[in-house]
Amino acid sequence: MNPSDLAAAVDTSAGLLRARLGERRPRIAVLLGSGWGPFADAVTDAVTVPYAELPAFPRLAIGGHAGLLKAGRIGRQELIVLAGRKHTYETGEPDGMKGVIRTLAALGVELLVQTNAAGSLDHAMPPGTVMLVEDHINLVQRSPLVGEPGDGRFVDMGTAYDATLRLQAQAAAVAATGHALPVGVYAWVLGPQFETPAEIRMLQRLGAQAVGMSTVPETILARHAGLKVLALSLMTNMAAGLSAETLSHGHTMATAQAASERAVALLAAVVQGLEAAA
Ligand code: HPA
Repeated sequence: MNPSDLAAAVDTSAGLLRARLGERRPRIAVLLGSGWGPFADAVTDAVTVPYAELPAFPRLAIGGHAGLLKAGRIGRQELIVLAGRKHTYETGEPDGMKGVIRTLAALGVELLVQTNAAGSLDHAMPPGTVMLVEDHINLVQRSPLVGEPGDGRFVDMGTAYDATLRLQAQAAAVAATGHALPVGVYAWVLGPQFETPAEIRMLQRLGAQAVGMSTVPETILARHAGLKVLALSLMTNMAAGLSAETLSHGHTMATAQAASERAVALLAAVVQGLEAAA
C-alpha cells in the first residue's frame, strides 16, 4: 500500500473501530504470538472484529493465527487484543503490521504488549520459560520505516522496551508466581527456516538470549508511533544445536500449547499490573 492509501486505510479502520468500541477507551493493546492465542478467550465483555473488516489490517495465512481483534477487559483492565500478526518471512516485507500499529495509535492506545514464541539460547531458560525482553538485536537489518518521510523516522531505540513497564511486569510476575521473570535480549531473524547451530553460537556471542522471527518490526513501528512497548517471549525450544531435538513448526506449536496455560495466566497478571499512564 502506498503511504496515502495506508493513511486513508488507517483512518477508515480507526473510524470503524471507534464505532464498534462505543464508550471503550483502551490504552493497552496486546499482540498475541504463537502459543499465546488462548489469552484472547480470557477477555470479557468483548467486541470482536475480524481483521478482514479493517482495511489497514493484514490478511493472514499461517495456521494458529486467527486474525481477530478483540476489545474488552481482563479483570478491570480495558484492552485490545490482537490475535494474529503478519510476519516478514511471509512476504519479505517488514511492514505487514504498519497499518495495525498506526490504527492503534489513532485510537489512543499508549502501550503495546507484544508476545512471541522464541528459541532459547540459554540453558537456564528451558522450553516453557517466559522471558521479559529488555532489548533486541535487529539482525535482519530491515526496517518498516524505510521510505517514511520526515525526521520522525530517526527513532531513538535506546529505550525500545520501556523500563517502567518492565518493573511493573516484574512486580506482577512476582505477585502471581513468587519469582521474577528472566530478562534477556531477543534477536530477530528472518526465517522461515530455523537457524544453524553455527548461527546460534554467533547469536550467543552477540549477546542474545532468545531468537525469533517476529516482534522487532512492530516494536520499531510502535516507537515511531509514540507507543511504549513491553515484550514477553515464550521459549518453545532450545535453539539449534543446544538440544538433540529436530526443530519444526509442529514442535514449536506443541510446546507452545503445553506451556500456554501458565503463560496466559502470567500475561493476565502482567496486563492487570500495568498502569496505562506510566
Ligand atoms: N528460532 C527462531 N524462531 C523461533 C524459534 C527458534 O528456535 N523457536 C520459536 N520461534
